[in-house]
Amino acid sequence: MTTPPAEPTGREPHEESRPASRGRRRVVLGVGGGIAAYKAALLLRLFTEDGDDVTVVPTAAALNFVGAPTWEALSGKPVSDRVWDRVEQVPHVRIGKSADLVVVAPATADLLARAAHGFADDLLTNVLLTARCPVVLAPAMHTEMWEHPATVANVATLRDRGVHVVEPASGRLTGADTGPGRLPEPEDIHAACLAILDTSRDVTPQVRSHRDSVLAGLRIVVSAGGTREPLDPVRYLGNRSSGKQGYALAAEAIARGADVTLVTSASLPDPAGAHVVRVETARELESAMSAAAQQADVVVMAAAVADFRPAEYAESKIKKTHGPGEEELDDAPVIRLVRNPDILAGLVRARRELRDRTGEATAGPMIVGFAAETGDSSGDLLHHARAKLARKGCDLLVANEVGAGVVFGQDDTTVHVLAPGGEVLLTAGPTTKAAASAAVWDAVEEAVDVRPPRAE
Ligand code: CTP
Repeated sequence: MTTPPAEPTGREPHEESRPASRGRRRVVLGVGGGIAAYKAALLLRLFTEDGDDVTVVPTAAALNFVGAPTWEALSGKPVSDRVWDRVEQVPHVRIGKSADLVVVAPATADLLARAAHGFADDLLTNVLLTARCPVVLAPAMHTEMWEHPATVANVATLRDRGVHVVEPASGRLTGADTGPGRLPEPEDIHAACLAILDTSRDVTPQVRSHRDSVLAGLRIVVSAGGTREPLDPVRYLGNRSSGKQGYALAAEAIARGADVTLVTSASLPDPAGAHVVRVETARELESAMSAAAQQADVVVMAAAVADFRPAEYAESKIKKTHGPGEEELDDAPVIRLVRNPDILAGLVRARRELRDRTGEATAGPMIVGFAAETGDSSGDLLHHARAKLARKGCDLLVANEVGAGVVFGQDDTTVHVLAPGGEVLLTAGPTTKAAASAAVWDAVEEAVDVRPPRAE
């Protein structure tokens, strides 16, 4: 078997996530026995185009969908699902131990169960037991199987153990049915793998387990995006928030091993591994946040919530004429606004009530607010941020400067993280929203560390 010549791609390899001390990154691509196995061939291509050395380890069932010759041709290596081939090379230990990344796509319900229970009945499960690098599982199965309590428990066990289980996409499944259970697109799985490798690089030995972060295993809820307050069936009052900061926070928390719920009104691609709850209005956001906060260890309000909404919703489109073919209205309509709830202040209030009721001083989640400020004649950004922190009563406040063309929708930002006393714990930027998110979580990690553990 010869290696097929690499096709020119025009893409630069991802130097960021490449171990500096070694040559090619060693990736093991596990393939489970599902119809989506064909997509793993595209994922394999993305890794090899990046210059990675990929070893494909299919299950026996996977070979029913895509045969060994395909994997061998694409990876340039022999492929087996069994521990009994080339035994003198001890493949059942060597492949997992020497890997920089193990990614399994698709991970079937059966494979998740075997991995969760430590089975070692084929080469892939042996690899999963011997790997000491980041392990990413991308499940794909029918919705009923994904939502079955057995699978839910297996996924929770794997995540607790530090395995990255990517949330499946929603959409058309094998038959005519639709729902959560689709394998995410190969590009998304590849991007999730690179993000995981990026956060684990530079830490010995070769890779860092996300168990190193105190966020690992914590339940984190992040809100993102600007709310939309409907005026009529086609119009709404909105704001310039893109949601990028909230999504970057969610992605970074997932990379640190947290169990992340993202409550969002933005229409960006779902961060791999997040439980995504979609909302539109401030009131929908409020009920989603207060429900999610009850089980959470940390809540971050990065959403740009509309403080006001139209007092009346017009069931049909507001017209500028009296009716079809009729005269235009003399006056433009006046839109009366009413206040929306302050969700952040409400979360802090609910936590205070919980603490009063239980007598437990640390009950409820740690609560992090954001302050989008412009600075004006009455004070600069930090002055306004300190006042907001005192008003809202949250544990940390992330202040950033906003204005037309600044921050909203942009990829770069500057953030200041303030402690309850108003002191600036850290400033990051101008930098990417991903790097700003890392700084925010660093500050949260420090603050969580000094809180006594929560009673369950
Ligand atoms: N927030 C909220 N509910 C609102 C308004 C804001 O939960 N109705 C949250 C935001 O998600 C953010 C923080 O409160 O975490 C500060 O939001 P910001 O828009 O900066 O401040 P406001 O409270 O709206 O005050 P102002 O508009 O007067 O600056």
